Amino acid sequence: MTNLDPRFLRTQGYINGKWVDATSGARFMVSNPADGTQIAQVADMGAEETREAINAAHEAFPGWAARTAGDRSKTLRKWFELIVQNADALAALLTAEQGKPLTEARGEVIYGASFIEWFAEEAKRIYGDVIPSTGADRRFIVLKQPIGVVGAITPWNFPSAMITRKVAPALAAGCTAVVKPAEDTPLSALALAVLAEEAGIPPGAFNLVPTSKAAPVGEAMTSDTRIRKISFTGSTAVGKVLMKQAAQNITKVSLELGGNAPFLVFDDADIDAAVEGALASKYRNAGQTCVCANRFFVQDGVHDEFAHKLAERTKELLIGRGDQPGVQIGPLINAAALTKVEHLMADAKARGAIILTGGEPHNQGDLFFTPTVITNVNPDMDIANTEIFGPVSALRRFNNEDEAIALANDTPFGLAAYFFARDMGRVWRVMEGLETGIVAVNTGLFTSEVTPFGGVKQSGIGREGSKYGIEEYVEIKNVCLGGI
Ligand code: SIN
Repeated sequence: MTNLDPRFLRTQGYINGKWVDATSGARFMVSNPADGTQIAQVADMGAEETREAINAAHEAFPGWAARTAGDRSKTLRKWFELIVQNADALAALLTAEQGKPLTEARGEVIYGASFIEWFAEEAKRIYGDVIPSTGADRRFIVLKQPIGVVGAITPWNFPSAMITRKVAPALAAGCTAVVKPAEDTPLSALALAVLAEEAGIPPGAFNLVPTSKAAPVGEAMTSDTRIRKISFTGSTAVGKVLMKQAAQNITKVSLELGGNAPFLVFDDADIDAAVEGALASKYRNAGQTCVCANRFFVQDGVHDEFAHKLAERTKELLIGRGDQPGVQIGPLINAAALTKVEHLMADAKARGAIILTGGEPHNQGDLFFTPTVITNVNPDMDIANTEIFGPVSALRRFNNEDEAIALANDTPFGLAAYFFARDMGRVWRVMEGLETGIVAVNTGLFTSEVTPFGGVKQSGIGREGSKYGIEEYVEIKNVCLGGI
């Protein structure tokens, strides 16, 4: 096992600039999904500590908001630089607690840092407006002001980048934040706090409340009127609960929820490129991203060629512990994740799916599943309607473009969609017809700090990253200046 840098292996919460234990003294275990070994025992906090963190964030807010944009920008820039300087150590920690291959973990750390760099710059561009007046004696001005204290709840599949994607725009706008990292992966979050402190982010501006009990912490956030914004990435089911709770105080929400991404391959596609795109999208993080290709639809004329080539390339993927050189597929995050994939596969097999490769758990360890390609998938199978969150490519056929768009849109979700085609008219028609917040054309990878990430329908509300991301953390104030 890779040695973890003790400087970053923190096991206490971070509240008001101090490293603190849970009031009860309780701790929960964080284990390595590759072999089940314990990495750390982390402070198990609850509603009480969440309120302390909100107190701290509330007190820090006026001072942080009053700093100049340039000052906040410099502090964030320093945080970005420190993360980049320590990327290897942070990646080792991320792989240990999350399981993804080291190269992907390092990629995530750098991707996460890119949001800090980006929003450090955007801090200086939160422009207001002057609106031409309707009366000679008055002027209209629009101010953009920080929304206040932000509660952020982040997922285990990107334990570093989903924190920075929320906290960087919040801090850039002048907000302060209380973050609940995922139970399976709190260590990357705590390591980010080490460097936030070193960068000079003041006490109370960025607080972390690790816990194994998400519900009371979430409720402490949504019920507190000092929290003006909840930003959540995770399942649609939990997003609905948080949105309902947030409605009590009309707290604003940003929700980045389930995906169920369609991946369409048309007759005119470059099939080899489509196969490479499918590998990149489907098997990133062992299939555990909200934007992983989830439902493959392949046109009749190229179905067999695509299926065969995808299966051949899938067989070549190297499965193993994320800290081993060259590994491309790590373990799933926990036993529940493996059980879910096993159930989906059993149901698909029983209903007539044809397995081209894989289909079983892998003997690397208790949480590994062999990368799989199945065909003959039909709409009655659970796998056709469920976000798989595992390394299984499930292929269905289609006959024409209208059918493909209808199939792709036949879901309550609408985060990302992928398609491969070369006819320019088709590219426009399909791109416009897909009901998703993101469309990737002729590529399997698209995320970046400069573009807006977010979904439509039950995939969420709001956008993260890009010039739009900061809007989630500001309020618009209309000032009417009379008596001129
Ligand atoms: C996600 O799966 O929620 C994030 C994926 C990404 O940002 O690339």
